[in-house]
Amino acid sequence: MIRLQKAIADSGFCSRRKAEEYIINKKVFVNGSLISELGVKVDENDEIIVDGNSISKQDKEYYVFYKPRSVICSTNDDKGRKTVIDFFESNKRLYPVGRLDYDTTGIIFLTNDGEFTNMILHPKNKIPKVYIAKLEGIIDGYSIKKIKNGVIIDKVKVIPDRVKLKSIDKKNNTCIVEITIHDGKNHEVKKIFESVGCNVIKLKRESIGFIDLTGLKSGEYRRLTIKEVKQLYAYSNDTKRK
Ligand code: URA
Repeated sequence: MIRLQKAIADSGFCSRRKAEEYIINKKVFVNGSLISELGVKVDENDEIIVDGNSISKQDKEYYVFYKPRSVICSTNDDKGRKTVIDFFESNKRLYPVGRLDYDTTGIIFLTNDGEFTNMILHPKNKIPKVYIAKLEGIIDGYSIKKIKNGVIIDKVKVIPDRVKLKSIDKKNNTCIVEITIHDGKNHEVKKIFESVGCNVIKLKRESIGFIDLTGLKSGEYRRLTIKEVKQLYAYSNDTKRK
């Protein structure tokens, strides 16, 4: 038997502190009974519902997917285009955690866990997302500096965590820039470069937090382990404090 808040945190649903808040705020049921005090103990057979979500491990699924180009980040598409969901056989109601554009490749999580989704996407958690952008033309130092200092996107100032010119291809008049951001506005990376007059011709997301595409080919996925889910929660608590 373990403490209820530990069981909730161990499931990857949220931190232990947050689990205590849920209990005190009368948002937790165990086997149908409302629990509002700390100290209750449970085992793996108990049915735990937190804020309307069952945290039974078998109910939650977490995947890392290597999204190919020409795939839409949605659960269905009225234009009949291929969606990220088409790659999965799970009978759970999975959905993508945030979006990558139709022509963007790279890492995206899929889950059926709303709390996890919020944790990954909420800008306050500052989970870094690393992108590799291929630009038309060769970006100058002044534009890189301008981006580093922050540019206005959709009326809000966006300051990337990191911007680095990786390589220049003079023959084809292109360059590669690595950019790390932690908020997820629509088309954010493309808009950041557009703001200094640069056109992104290829975009790939390489990592989310400490999770990257190691071992995956385009179109492949793997499950996130419960340990990785927990580590992402811990990571978000760390980055939030910085
Ligand atoms: N920024 C973009 O412009 N596109 C993406 O797909 C992701 C981030």
